[in-house]
Amino acid sequence: MTNLDATQGGPCIVFRDAAVARGGRTIWQHGDFTIPRGSVTAIVGTNGTGKTTMMKAELGLIPLAHGSIDVLGEPAGRANRRIGYVPQIYASDVDSSLTALQSALLGLTGTRFGIHPVTRAQKAKAMQALEFAGIADKARHRLSDLSGGQRQRVAIAQALVADPELLMLDEPLANLDLASQRAVVQLLARLNRDLGMTIQVVAHDLNMLLPILTGAVYLLDGHPHYAAMDRVLDSDLLTHLYGTRVQVVTTPQGDMFVTPGLGDDDAADVHTADEIAGLHRHDAADDTTHGTTHGRTLR
Ligand SMILES: Nc1ncnc2c1ncn2[C@@H]1O[C@H](COP(=O)(O)OP(=O)(O)OP(=O)(O)O)[C@@H](O)[C@H]1O
Ligand SMILES: [Mg+2]
Repeated sequence: MTNLDATQGGPCIVFRDAAVARGGRTIWQHGDFTIPRGSVTAIVGTNGTGKTTMMKAELGLIPLAHGSIDVLGEPAGRANRRIGYVPQIYASDVDSSLTALQSALLGLTGTRFGIHPVTRAQKAKAMQALEFAGIADKARHRLSDLSGGQRQRVAIAQALVADPELLMLDEPLANLDLASQRAVVQLLARLNRDLGMTIQVVAHDLNMLLPILTGAVYLLDGHPHYAAMDRVLDSDLLTHLYGTRVQVVTTPQGDMFVTPGLGDDDAADVHTADEIAGLHRHDAADDTTHGTTHGRTLR
């Protein structure tokens, strides 16, 4: 795998007043932010707010209703060969008669249709990706014989095999037990740290990812916002985001956790319009203003 320089900086994903509509309805709009190369970004938001839609828009699979999205220096869709994508609910999508190795090879050959002579080099590359994903011992097993967590690793191997510069994973931790979640997070950490891969991951529970996140896109009130991590971890903002009381807890060791609040404040978000306006602005200065009023420092 290519050893990219994580510190090369520069933008990886640039939204300029981007909006998406599906079925005649605006899903989100006013997306205006830049995500740097070498970052690990979570996409957070409640069900149906358009997280999967955002990844598809970044891949150019869904046209924008307004504005633009550039990915790896090209308009959305043009750089897809440099992107690894693990879709949501991959497990029900896969052709389960394939072996793990054949599945990983698809990331190189690009299609499951027709006959593809596979070179020795391609096979070695696919094995290497399976090893990296910690599932090489199941290379000859059919996907139908693997568990959900094992299939998730195969899906990641398939996304990795062509040395992407950007890896996008849609809810890779869903349905995994705690040990498997941890293993996937460790894998993402290695890909980011050792190979300089930029990573974007849709997640509902930030806790597992907190140690590696550099920022998050939060889908709130029909707008995607990007903020560096110290600005995202704010109880008030998360409470508004999830619509239920959320607390950010810092342990004496400096670890941060996001927890549902205790007691009687499980009730829905009770922010006033003014408070929300303070948390949530759409002007260009938005991302810098958050930090001063609501910023928390991660370690
Ligand atoms: N093919 C489609 N045609 C029309 N509307 C769609 C289509 N796919 C999704 N939508 C709508 O777009 C909105 C965003 O869907 P999306 O799948 O992006 O949400 P999500 O944030 O990924 O949700 P989840 O957390 O459940 O995965 C939803 O309201 C959904 O109903
Ligand atoms: Mg989704």
